[in-house]
Order: sequence, then C-alpha cells, then structure tokens
Amino acid sequence: MVDKKQLNDNIPQHVAIIMDGNGRWAKKQGLFRSVGHEKGTKAVREAVESCAEIGVKYLTLYAFSTENWNRPKLEVDTLMKLLVTSLKKEIKTLQENNIKLNAIGNLQSLPGKARKELMEVIEKTKSNDHMTLTLALSYGSREELIKTIEEISIKVKNGVISPHLINESVINEHLYTKNLPDVDLLIRTSGEKRISNFLLWQIAYAELYFTEILWPDFRKEHLFEAIYNYQKRERRFGKTSEQLS
Ligand code: IPE
Ligand code: IPE
Ligand code: MG
Repeated sequence: MVDKKQLNDNIPQHVAIIMDGNGRWAKKQGLFRSVGHEKGTKAVREAVESCAEIGVKYLTLYAFSTENWNRPKLEVDTLMKLLVTSLKKEIKTLQENNIKLNAIGNLQSLPGKARKELMEVIEKTKSNDHMTLTLALSYGSREELIKTIEEISIKVKNGVISPHLINESVINEHLYTKNLPDVDLLIRTSGEKRISNFLLWQIAYAELYFTEILWPDFRKEHLFEAIYNYQKRERRFGKTSEQLS
C-alpha cells in the first residue's frame, strides 16, 4: 500500500480518471446497478480530496459518456438524479478545499435540473484556485472533435482564420478543454483497457494506468499508488533517455 509520504515532488499537473466498474461492483454482491453508482460517489469524493491534498492542479472525471445515453432509461435517470444530489452535497467539499468546478461535454443534452444545479455550483466555485475539478458529462471525444472542426471551418469560411495557420493551439482553443493543460496521467479502473471515447486529442502523451479495482472500491491509497507508479516512469516525448539527463 502506497502512502502519501512515498511520493516525490513530481506530481502530475493534470490527472484524468475513467471511473468504471460500478455495475460489476453491485452485481458481485447481488445489488442493483444503481447501488454501485451511489457507492461510486464516495470514491469520487476521495479522489477529489486526495488529488487536492497532494497538489494536482487539474482533475478530470469521466462521469457520463455520449454513449451512456444508450443505457436503459431507468439507469440514465438514476445517474442524472445522482448528479443533482451529489452536486448539492459536495459543494461543501469543493468550498472547503478551494476547488473550482468545471464541466465538459454536450451540457445542453442534460436534464434541465441537472444543468441548473451544475451551473450554480460552477458559479459559486468560480473564484476557487487550488484545483480545477472537471466533470465530463455527456462527453464524447469524437463529438468534441466534430464540433471543433465545424467551428474552425466556419471561421475559415468567414475569413477569420487562414487554413495554413491552423495549428495545435488553434485546435486546443476550440475544444471543450480549452482552459485545461494536456493530461499527464490517465487512470482507468475495473480492468478494462480501453479509452471509450475519452479525451482522444488531450491524452496524446499521457501516461496510462490501468487497475483492476472497481470504482466504488477505489480509495486514497489506490490514487497514491497510481501517482507513485507514474513517478517511476520516464516521459521521453520522443527524445532519447540520454537527452533527458
Ligand atoms: C461506470 O461504471 C459509471 C458509468 C459509466 C456511468 P459502469 O456503470 O460502466 O460499470 P460496469 O462497467 O458496468 O461495471
Ligand atoms: C466509460 O465507461 C464512461 C464512463 C466511465 C463514464 P463505460 O463503461 O461506459 O465504457 P465501455 O462501455 O466499457 O467502453
Ligand atoms: Mg463500464
């Protein structure tokens, strides 16, 4: 078990997490999937608190994908209700830890109540500056890229941007994540080793960390273990090891 004291100063600036395994966690104990989602909220709080504790500046959590709309209506409704109750409950945690809430995704597609609550918490926490917590809600990376291409195309058509000036910065500025740096560490729980349409552009050089732990069981020490593992790696960004030292 990794303790916070074992970590060095090389804390990833941006951690993103695919919080997976709520359904399997519930099924294992003969419970409804919704119970797994509910238990998952405790893991969310722990991940948020522990990232804030060690100085992660940006934490991005994949909470609901564009594909998740295809789940049974009852489950989608449960998840949306859980979002509202969690926001109401966790505003306190955010204020106490000086955390700013942010959201990415097709927020227009969220039920009115969820969107309203979300906007309220974003507004109330906008001056907090210790860490930015971004919730990916109704988020799909391909949808984000399509939107980006559409917006840039319109600017090109209207003569606002010249096609040969389109570079990485121009693309970054049109993504939902325009105010966030690239992801340094991407964690996925539950043993699945896939990206599931999350931040495809933004993880170009992220370190990937997969764990078998199901999301409701994910505790602080698991987060610290992921960071510890990250700190053991050499990020070469295409260079040779010798060039780095
Ligand atoms: C992640 O857990 C939560 C969401 C996708 C909303 P799952 O609900 O995907 O759990 P599994 O993968 O079925 O176990
Ligand atoms: C990815 O998990 C989305 C979230 C964690 C919100 P899924 O459980 O929906 O992904 P797949 O279906 O296993 O790829
Ligand atoms: Mg899943």
